[in-house]
Amino acid sequence: MTSPYSSNQTLQAIAAVTPPSGAPRPRLTFLGTGYLGATYAICFAELGYEVLGVDVDAAKIDKLNAGAVPIHEPGLDELLTKNLTAGRLRFTTDYAHAAAFGDVHFLCVGTPQRPDGLAADLGYVESAIISLAPYLGRKALIVGKSTVPVGTAEWVEQLVGKHAPVTSEVEVAWSPEFLQEGFAVEDVLRPNRVIFGVKSEWALGMLHSAHKGVFDLAATEDRDVPVVITDFPTAELAKVAANAFLATKISFINAMAEVCEASGADVTQLARAIGYDPRIGNKFLRAGVGFGGACLPKDIRAFQARAQELGVGEALRFLHEADLINQRRRQRVIQLAAELLDRRYGPNGPDLGGVAVTVLGATFKPNSDDVRDSPALSVVRKLSRAGAHVTVYDPEGMANAAREVPEVTYALSLVDAVRGAELVCVLTEWDEFRNADPTAIGELVSGRRVIDGRNCLDPVIWARAGWEYRGMGRPSSR
Ligand code: UGA
Repeated sequence: MTSPYSSNQTLQAIAAVTPPSGAPRPRLTFLGTGYLGATYAICFAELGYEVLGVDVDAAKIDKLNAGAVPIHEPGLDELLTKNLTAGRLRFTTDYAHAAAFGDVHFLCVGTPQRPDGLAADLGYVESAIISLAPYLGRKALIVGKSTVPVGTAEWVEQLVGKHAPVTSEVEVAWSPEFLQEGFAVEDVLRPNRVIFGVKSEWALGMLHSAHKGVFDLAATEDRDVPVVITDFPTAELAKVAANAFLATKISFINAMAEVCEASGADVTQLARAIGYDPRIGNKFLRAGVGFGGACLPKDIRAFQARAQELGVGEALRFLHEADLINQRRRQRVIQLAAELLDRRYGPNGPDLGGVAVTVLGATFKPNSDDVRDSPALSVVRKLSRAGAHVTVYDPEGMANAAREVPEVTYALSLVDAVRGAELVCVLTEWDEFRNADPTAIGELVSGRRVIDGRNCLDPVIWARAGWEYRGMGRPSSR
């Protein structure tokens, strides 16, 4: 069913709706306090809303109530403490409490890849709805934020219909999020757009009130926040299409890196040369070990699985190619290692038996402690499997990395990590690595060989300091 609302003018014209709780502004709950839910709950409290964060994980809830953010995200700690103290923000495991409290319930649970295929696992979505709906004693709006296969909003609506008391007339809307780890606070407080997938004027009015803090902040800063008012499937697709585009853009430049490697060109200069064209743009054109994290890899797979179900699998076949290009970049580091160390290939790939390799970086990108589907850790595993003695150092991600890949050594500092290394691989572009002094590090290693998996080092400076340098999609320099 399509939405009758199609423009920002509609939003201006929409009558203010009174929150069903009777509170002056809608009270908000965020179901799921992972990356998405915790950040949203804290930031919306900062915008002045009364907020309740809900999770089934009691330990996480206790931590949040005690003022501890379970993730590394710049700026979030201070906002959590500030808003807990102000009394606008609380966290609970009690769904009955959430139902009694909230006017708008934002669904923020994870939708990981299913263990048996490419599709998304909607188990957490289902259990959050089934846990909340029976307690909804009055009208409320459930708003999907989780990244889901197109069609999920309709299914959620049916689930709500089945499990909520009929008299409560609960409605559903969809409003995907676009936050980037490392910039999450900024992305929530100052989004570059918001999407409202709605079926009724009441839902639109409630969503508008629930975002008024965002619009008011923008007005004080003389900014506009574009709003796209649309139907359920378009709102759901807006998220996966955006991530598919970003993943494809990265894989495009990584495909160019492969061509550069074969032809002697430099992909970093190629990216600059094409990126000045505003139709192409210079963002997300950094070639390297490729994309990872909890979003892009699983989202492009789930999107393909859903397209297959819809009978349009062929339309997204290029995403399979984007995935393959991305995986090949991880393997490329192992090839470069074998080349630099003059090692032979065995039946299972290069033999790096006994070589001391230091990997700098474990997280999927800098300014995060997240190692989920991290290209750096994937390369660590491959190096270790090829027989190398691997030592890893990362400024924030060591604890998470050690849990995922316990079989390698973790060093407490950059200096400790590189001591005695025959090869150094920089796989996450932390400032600490970018700004490292190649001469000083050169004194500590036993072989001056470096693979710059993120093209974040200056090859000329490293070569001048006596290093054999290999980048991704760049000519080699000595
Ligand atoms: C991504 C999207 O950028 C967000 O808009 C989206 O909301 C989020 O997923 C999500 O679905 O929740 P995020 O996973 O935080 O955000 O990370 P990105 O900044 O997109 O980076 C993803 C990966 O691509 C990282 O491993 C990064 O190192 C890599 N990357 C990025 C490149 O290899 N090259 C680039 O040019 C840019």
